[in-house]
Amino acid sequence: MKVTVVGAGNVGATCADVIAQKDAASDLILLDIKEGLAEGKALDIFQSAPINRFNTRAVGVTNDYEATKGSDVVVITSGLPRKPGMSRDDLIEVNADIVKTVTENIIKYSPNTTIIVVSNPLDVMTYQAYASANLPRTKVIGMAGVLDTGRYRAFLSQELNVSPKDIQAILMGGHGDTMVPLPNYTTVCGIPVTQLLSKEKIDAIVERTKFGGGEIVKLMGTSAWYAPGSAAARMAEAITRNQRRVLPCCVKLEGEYGLKDVFVGVPVVLGKSGVEKIIELKLNDAEMELLNNSADAVKDMMDALDKMGKN
Ligand code: LAC
Repeated sequence: MKVTVVGAGNVGATCADVIAQKDAASDLILLDIKEGLAEGKALDIFQSAPINRFNTRAVGVTNDYEATKGSDVVVITSGLPRKPGMSRDDLIEVNADIVKTVTENIIKYSPNTTIIVVSNPLDVMTYQAYASANLPRTKVIGMAGVLDTGRYRAFLSQELNVSPKDIQAILMGGHGDTMVPLPNYTTVCGIPVTQLLSKEKIDAIVERTKFGGGEIVKLMGTSAWYAPGSAAARMAEAITRNQRRVLPCCVKLEGEYGLKDVFVGVPVVLGKSGVEKIIELKLNDAEMELLNNSADAVKDMMDALDKMGKN
């Protein structure tokens, strides 16, 4: 299986490194517009192959889309990251141009690929890629929920002092402050988290999760990469290995959850054809209201993008 990662910045390079370490692709192309950057990082990753014991052949290229020909999966990480004080939505105009150009170039050489979008603002950039790719909605997927549940599960494991591996959770909605972590669907090895932690403790963790990306921007002056890059790699692996993993991903809804023509995070089955199934779980009224609010916030940004006339 061939995977391309577009953007050799921190997120793209981390994603490429994790894919290689998991041997999740036979061929891996890392592409960037900055001369030599992708070549250097891919070479560095490949030189770790004998040490970390993987077979993935990582190759870096500068803007050479022909090298990406026949990719089964393409991860788009291109775009500017957030600076302190910026919301993800502040990036919309400049990143929409970038995602559009990248998507058009990718599709030229891999017309049947599955695209995983990582660029921010995530849900709107997934919409942009979908509009530019002309692929079915099952093949243009945004990475947000895997990252956001990663944060949520990490915080819960810290609070409970148990292994992060044993926390199972689902989170829905957009990749922003309106995201919807679901404590009613959160368990510790099958035990409802609501039996193990007080409502106050859970609420505090939900709040910290919503602003988890911003917490890191404040600390480092730029946005995160280890967890985002790993999350995108997990999704790519689910597709290249046809794992049928159940993961929260951003997809275009066409009536599911009563929502239409909006890109938000929902639980899906991810396998060789991309989104194999959208799972519709039962939400109570309060959860449904949060999801609707989140979808409205995304819809506003999608409308803003439409008004810019980019797509
Ligand atoms: C974050 C950015 C990548 O949440 O959106 O860290």
